[in-house]
Amino acid sequence: MKFSVKIKTVSSHPKTGVDALSVFFLENKGKKTEFKSIEELFNLKFNSSSNKLLTDEDTSKVEIQTEDKGNILIFKFKKAELTVDYFRDSLAGCLQSLNSAAAKELAVSIPEYCDFSELFDSEEYFSQSFIEGVLLGNYDFSVYKSKKKRTPKLNAVFVGSNLKLLKSAAVKAEKTIEAVCFAKDLVNEPAITLTPREFVRRVKKNFTDTSVKVKTMNEAALKRNKMNAILSVGRGSDNPPILLVLEYKPARAKETIALVGKGITYDSGGLSIKPTDGMLEMKGDMAGAAAVVGTFFAADKLKIGKALIGVIPLAENLINGSSYKPGDIVSTASGKTIEVKNTDAEGRIVLADALEYACKFKPNAVIDFATLTGACVVALGEFAAGMFTKDRTLAGKLKRAGDKTYEILWELPFMDAYKKLLKSDIADISNIGSRWGGAITAAKFLENFMEKDIPYVHLDIAGPALKHELTSYTKKWATGFGVRLMSDFLSE
Ligand code: BES
Ligand code: ZN
Ligand code: ZN
Repeated sequence: MKFSVKIKTVSSHPKTGVDALSVFFLENKGKKTEFKSIEELFNLKFNSSSNKLLTDEDTSKVEIQTEDKGNILIFKFKKAELTVDYFRDSLAGCLQSLNSAAAKELAVSIPEYCDFSELFDSEEYFSQSFIEGVLLGNYDFSVYKSKKKRTPKLNAVFVGSNLKLLKSAAVKAEKTIEAVCFAKDLVNEPAITLTPREFVRRVKKNFTDTSVKVKTMNEAALKRNKMNAILSVGRGSDNPPILLVLEYKPARAKETIALVGKGITYDSGGLSIKPTDGMLEMKGDMAGAAAVVGTFFAADKLKIGKALIGVIPLAENLINGSSYKPGDIVSTASGKTIEVKNTDAEGRIVLADALEYACKFKPNAVIDFATLTGACVVALGEFAAGMFTKDRTLAGKLKRAGDKTYEILWELPFMDAYKKLLKSDIADISNIGSRWGGAITAAKFLENFMEKDIPYVHLDIAGPALKHELTSYTKKWATGFGVRLMSDFLSE
């Protein structure tokens, strides 16, 4: 973390000193009157160059230095261009550029909710987005920098008129972002250290003294349970595969949701090897697993009322003398057989055993998270995840949670017509389809291992889970995609 942040909530703007930054958000109407209230608050007059910037409609951000009350940063938004992520994104960027040697206090004025109620779902979540922005912008992954930086203290003061609501928003934001950062840390960790065993060790460490139960199946247990799909993919590595199972069972829970996460701690492609460029980000091929772990972490902290089962197949897709090969037939725990036509389509193979296992708990729904296909990123870009389901109720609820949290889900076709493309002459199913619609055929493959009467959603997060340029808080490191989404979805 860049700073050691302490969050405070107050109802009127604090008296600031030279080491403070005060942040305001105002609608950009190009009028001087808009900024008068800030002049009054600080008891000063902006000079002509500041006035010029403040009234210039093409300027979206103005920073003004005062003599003894610190700096004032004014974000000028255009109402037509606002999104529910605007405040989160702006404040994350603001924190990233804050001089950690100079700043000791950040005072953020939250504007009146009534002006934004059409866009936002609730006043509490509107306020939460400001606090999340500061906390997300504060994230860094610097454990491997040999020159250690200090972590100076920063008081982050949020000013809002509804103090009670602001306080509860702050508590929720802190818990949720702590869970997001746990997921980010797991995905950012290089594969040399984050083997399946190390993944389990970190999960166990983080879940001690929580209500989440952690169980594992080692290689011998996987063999006993005939989970040859997970074993086949993991066989090419010295680090054996593990199935990680999480349980969260709050009292009086009426529903159980199973969350399944692809946990390939490194994807070289196997014998169908990837080119170097394609391998660079493949330490992140366990981002689905991290999303599930992060969701359990948040569920425990936020005391979510639904019961959860987590099923995470962990394996390395590498190459040695025992690697699984194109042409192999894999016999899964369900009894169904897979013809391996490409060892780089390994995610769906490990998920075959994981989905079948998740169904054994008879959950009310199964949702999987997987960095499954490059094809999904080609289709949707890096911002939205692909959603595949036949369940209209779940699709609607998840879509709404995505729109609210700005972890956007975009539904793609999922009709049975695509099933034909997975035909195999020698086994029950082939692990790849034809050239087109790669994200869809991958989803249809997974559906094959689900129990027909359990509502099922597959989320392909290959784009949004890994770093991308589209928001300030996703630029440098893995995004932790899915944790904010699920925290909201499960709280409803
Ligand atoms: N892990 C990759 C998918 C991926 C690509 C994730 C880019 C994140 C960013 C997956 O295992 C894979 O290699 N899929 C293949 C499937 C193909 C062989 C049918 C792909 O997408 O090319
Ligand atoms: Zn692969
Ligand atoms: Zn993969």
